[in-house]
Amino acid sequence: MAKKIILDCDPGHDDAIAMLLAHGNPEIELLAVTTVVGNQTLEKVTRNALAVARVANITGVPFAAGATRPLVRQVEVADEIHGDSGLDGPVLPEPAIKIEPIHAIDLIIDLVMSHPPKTITLVPTGGLTNIALAVRKEPRIAERVKEVVLMGGGYHVGNWSAVAEFNIKIDPEAAHIVFNEKWPLTMVGLDLTHQALATPEVYSRIAAVGTRPAKFVNELLDFFSQSYKDRQGFDAPPVHDPCAVAYVIDPNVMTVHKVPVDIELTGTLTLGMTVADFRAAPPADCHTQVAVKLDHQRFWDLIVDALERIGEVEF
Ligand code: BDR
Ligand code: CA
Repeated sequence: MAKKIILDCDPGHDDAIAMLLAHGNPEIELLAVTTVVGNQTLEKVTRNALAVARVANITGVPFAAGATRPLVRQVEVADEIHGDSGLDGPVLPEPAIKIEPIHAIDLIIDLVMSHPPKTITLVPTGGLTNIALAVRKEPRIAERVKEVVLMGGGYHVGNWSAVAEFNIKIDPEAAHIVFNEKWPLTMVGLDLTHQALATPEVYSRIAAVGTRPAKFVNELLDFFSQSYKDRQGFDAPPVHDPCAVAYVIDPNVMTVHKVPVDIELTGTLTLGMTVADFRAAPPADCHTQVAVKLDHQRFWDLIVDALERIGEVEF
């Protein structure tokens, strides 16, 4: 049985690759794609999500737009990393599908409440605003989702401050809500995603697929590589968001460690830090775990396999 997921994202170069992986992998049933302000404004990331749907030939999946701003803070976008469009690099095709006339949080709630309990996994790869709003509006989803597997945070490292990661830092209050609900939650943070490097070998493997969607991915990686080189000193860019999808597909693609995690909301230097308490064995009711070690080969095999299955697409 395919694993049903809702991808809540802010495309974003790595979000786009997460979409392609979710669509191209037969273990995943993509129930919906919802968008949230993050890497760029809601308008831009939503447009990008629809363009990526065209690239991947995603049809019959509802797309819905969500929050235009974080719960408390001002909008803070990552144009330094993702450019002015949020998806700079390739020429974006005109979308072939339209956004649904429903707010993302209502679509999330409707899907979770209308499916059997514990069958839907939420996969947020942007700020957690939509997920926080959804669980506040309909608290019963906390017991009903199977699990939350999110890209965000990091227990040793930050990228938007010394200790905070972008998705958590832009809406720490939302992250606080999401991490403190009692649903099983896997944090696929920077400790893990900084191992998901798109090396020259990876780039060549993707090029060898030889299709337009594969070329699109490498055009994304061209821009992303340059951003990560210029802004963060990486030789090869870390491709964060598909790691969360990969964990849903195959938990053996990474090792995880059960540990309590909470979000710093008051620190002047540490706002948005994901504080993981490794001091002792986790309490019996610990519902959070963090991703630790990636099987790099297995991860990129999944991406290449998804691109091969998507095949050639005209756009
Ligand atoms: C996260 O921030 C965004 O810029 C990326 O899309 C990813 O979700 C990495 O910190
Ligand atoms: Ca993202």
